Amino acid sequence: MAELKYISGFGNECASEDPRCPGALPEGQNNPQVCPYNLYAEQLSGSAFTCPRSTNKRSWLYRILPSVSHKPFESIDQGHVTHNWDEVDPDPNQLRWKPFEIPKTSQKKVDFVSGLHTLCGAGDIKSNNGLAIHIFLCNTSMGNRCFYNSDGDFLIVPQKGKLLIYTEFGKMLVQPNEICVIQRGMRFSIDVFEETRGYILEVYGVHFELPDLGPIGANGLANPRDFLIPVAWYEDRQVPGGYTVINKYQGKLFAAKQDVSPFNVVAWHGNYTPYKYNLENFMVINSVGFDHADPSIFTVLTAKSVRPGVAVADFVIFPPRWGVADKTFRPPYYHRNCMSEFMGLIKGHYEAKQGGFLPGGGSLHSSMTPHGPDADCFEKASKAKLAPERIADGTMAFMFESSLSMAVTKWGLKTSNCLDENYYKCWEPLKSHFTPNSRNPAGPN
Ligand SMILES: [Fe+2]
Repeated sequence: MAELKYISGFGNECASEDPRCPGALPEGQNNPQVCPYNLYAEQLSGSAFTCPRSTNKRSWLYRILPSVSHKPFESIDQGHVTHNWDEVDPDPNQLRWKPFEIPKTSQKKVDFVSGLHTLCGAGDIKSNNGLAIHIFLCNTSMGNRCFYNSDGDFLIVPQKGKLLIYTEFGKMLVQPNEICVIQRGMRFSIDVFEETRGYILEVYGVHFELPDLGPIGANGLANPRDFLIPVAWYEDRQVPGGYTVINKYQGKLFAAKQDVSPFNVVAWHGNYTPYKYNLENFMVINSVGFDHADPSIFTVLTAKSVRPGVAVADFVIFPPRWGVADKTFRPPYYHRNCMSEFMGLIKGHYEAKQGGFLPGGGSLHSSMTPHGPDADCFEKASKAKLAPERIADGTMAFMFESSLSMAVTKWGLKTSNCLDENYYKCWEPLKSHFTPNSRNPAGPN
């Protein structure tokens, strides 16, 4: 596969032409009477027309046929996709899942769409407020099938196996330790090369933004220039009656047939595009004195709610870094949080739990559900000599954190058969160290 090209810059106003058709973008206007190369002009709006400039998103696509050239949509099997947050009774417990099992290619062919499994979520699709967390488990390329989501944006975190993603804007290769965002309405099709697994954070009705940096200043965390956007690429491929467009609309799946590949955009311009990001490029900020900064310093992208500082969902990572804090219990602190925290692991092992939380698995600590290091981690970190040390080398854990109180699906609690019934036991060995008659029996503080 020839190396793919990208444009860089988060949220930029970009323009791209397939080099086979130079000059395919109209000059000086969006919608000429006749477009260059006799293409059709089509606008894809990702925000209300009237949004302020800072949040206004749209792109113009110049394509061989407009997207409307398809047979009617019909309802199809939902598989394990759901937005029913009342399938099972609420469960406030700390939940942890073993690695979700990928179907074996020899047993059943499953592509990205048929391999979508909704794990948890909250909110309401029709009012554009909420989120869902899905696990994708697949072993087969989508072939003559593409997908688009009318409900929200997908932030895709591949964990095992790379994804070659065909989009209307061009092609992206997304490998584990990279992420991509495919925004609402964008058609895409995914090729996979092995038994493949990953996580998806779906947000309804809002888009991901870079977090504000406040006193950090103009640079740091995920820098805008490291976000990569595909370049225009088209195929003029006839598939008489045989191309299937799958749509998630109001939480349900629909399919329509058409005669051509949807990846027939010869040129495009705009600021509403898919993009990818390599997590290795994250510039980590942390305490260099004592104590912890809150994990919000690890936010890569945020999907804001209308309440200032409160996210529908944040995407947060725990990258390799130095730990140097003096006189400090260095692992994550024990806490209870009004937010819901779903964690996943791309590779390696997580610093607060050496076993049980494995790549391809996950955990959910719901609103106000206590959690923190396991007993073993507490004992070791309380006695550790506090020299500068590397933390999380060779690993990448992440968190989807939401202000909504998420419900777990029936698939998550039962059908997946991956729930770890013994998770709570990792805290059972925690014992009291209370010494009422001695303020400072052992430590240097
Ligand atoms: Fe937490």
